[in-house]
Amino acid sequence: MDKFVIYGGSPLQGTASISGSKNASLPLMAAALLAPGIHRLQNVPSLRDVRTMAHLLRIIGARVDFIDRTLTIDSRDCSFYEAPYELVKTMRASVYVLGPLLARFGQAKVSLPGGCAWGPRPVDLHIMGMQRLGAEVELEGGYIIARAAKLRGAKISFPTPSVGATGNIMMAAALAEGVTIIENAACEPEIVALAQFINDMGGRVSGAATDRIEIEGVKELSPIQFSNIPDRIEAGTFLCAAALSGGDVTFENLRTDHIGVVLNALESAGFVLDVTETSVRIRSDRPAKPVDIKTAPYPGFPTDMQAQWIALMSLSEGSAAITDTIYTDRFTHVAELRRLGADIRLEGNMALVRGVDHLQGAPVMSTDLRASASLIMAGMAARGRTDLSRVYHIDRGYEQIENKLNALGAKIQREDEPM
Ligand code: EPZ
Repeated sequence: MDKFVIYGGSPLQGTASISGSKNASLPLMAAALLAPGIHRLQNVPSLRDVRTMAHLLRIIGARVDFIDRTLTIDSRDCSFYEAPYELVKTMRASVYVLGPLLARFGQAKVSLPGGCAWGPRPVDLHIMGMQRLGAEVELEGGYIIARAAKLRGAKISFPTPSVGATGNIMMAAALAEGVTIIENAACEPEIVALAQFINDMGGRVSGAATDRIEIEGVKELSPIQFSNIPDRIEAGTFLCAAALSGGDVTFENLRTDHIGVVLNALESAGFVLDVTETSVRIRSDRPAKPVDIKTAPYPGFPTDMQAQWIALMSLSEGSAAITDTIYTDRFTHVAELRRLGADIRLEGNMALVRGVDHLQGAPVMSTDLRASASLIMAGMAARGRTDLSRVYHIDRGYEQIENKLNALGAKIQREDEPM
């Protein structure tokens, strides 16, 4: 297992490019199963999760090549309709193949994902949606076993917006008979990208980006070439890292319309931003002003930015309350940040962060993807050395993070960590 050795105290300078979106690429890869043929997906980040999804598609029978951030997926010879536990337990997003397998083969056997570092992550809304489309679904031996001779359009109202369930149902409904309406749909940019992908294949999806999506089923879909959207969470993470470390950095190849709420929060915290459609320059020469945030479904403040915001507020001029309304127990990073000297008090799903004068490097441990990002940020801003173990978590969702940050002046060394 690898660890990062981080020496703090260097302000960041220069320009960096944002990679393609992890959370868009995963459903897009699954959607390629809907149309037998050769698909080309560009601007795909070279990440563990992308390689895991590619492995799953190969198990199902697709040929997948991944060269220079372009995925070529040949989904003609798919025949196996199972997503095994050994694989699904490593990546919850594997459940995205449920809808496409059901739509294409009329059956699917997908392992229930386990929990994750911060608690249970149910898939009941995915299952409810498939049942509404006419599938017979049983839970047996830790697997979702779904069958449907033909899926039929239906009206599906989600009690809470779910990115995964919205995407899964959109894919299943694309080949169903009749019209499907999803109410209280997720509005995330990743869902908009998926809807565009399905329409480019010949599907009929309307209303994406709103909470009411309509999908008119078609008989068949055709393979396409598609360019993935930029990763809005990588962009937000790097902007917060530059704000915390100080300096003057420009991030390019992003979509600023996807991160408006994060940009507003950074400006409220006193940072100077120069914003164009695809780039942001941030200048930081003082601690952040304290800014309270509460996470919410898009376009609200992303839960995937919650840990990074706590890290930024740990050196603020006052106290800030960070509340996660999406995952109320996603705070495993708090104990680790405290080891670096942060003053954080947890009250249920709210972290009260009181800014301190400085952080002090120490050995800390990654527990999940975004927690790892917050610890890297804090280690970069702390005095002295921070050893961050289990960086395989970070490799799931950030492409060559240490190379990108070191090119801006950070001091991060990847080292082998004896088991
Ligand atoms: C997606 O996960 C993202 N993952 C997550 O990012 C992100 O945190 C999450 O959306 C919320 O924005 C990918 O896109 C691959 P949800 P997903 O279904 O789809 C509840 C990262 O760091 N829920 O929108 O699994 C759920 O418990 C990852 O990149 C149900 O109750 O999230 C949560 O409270 C972490 N039943 C809320 O809905 C269900 O069937 C939102 O979850 C599904 C979800």
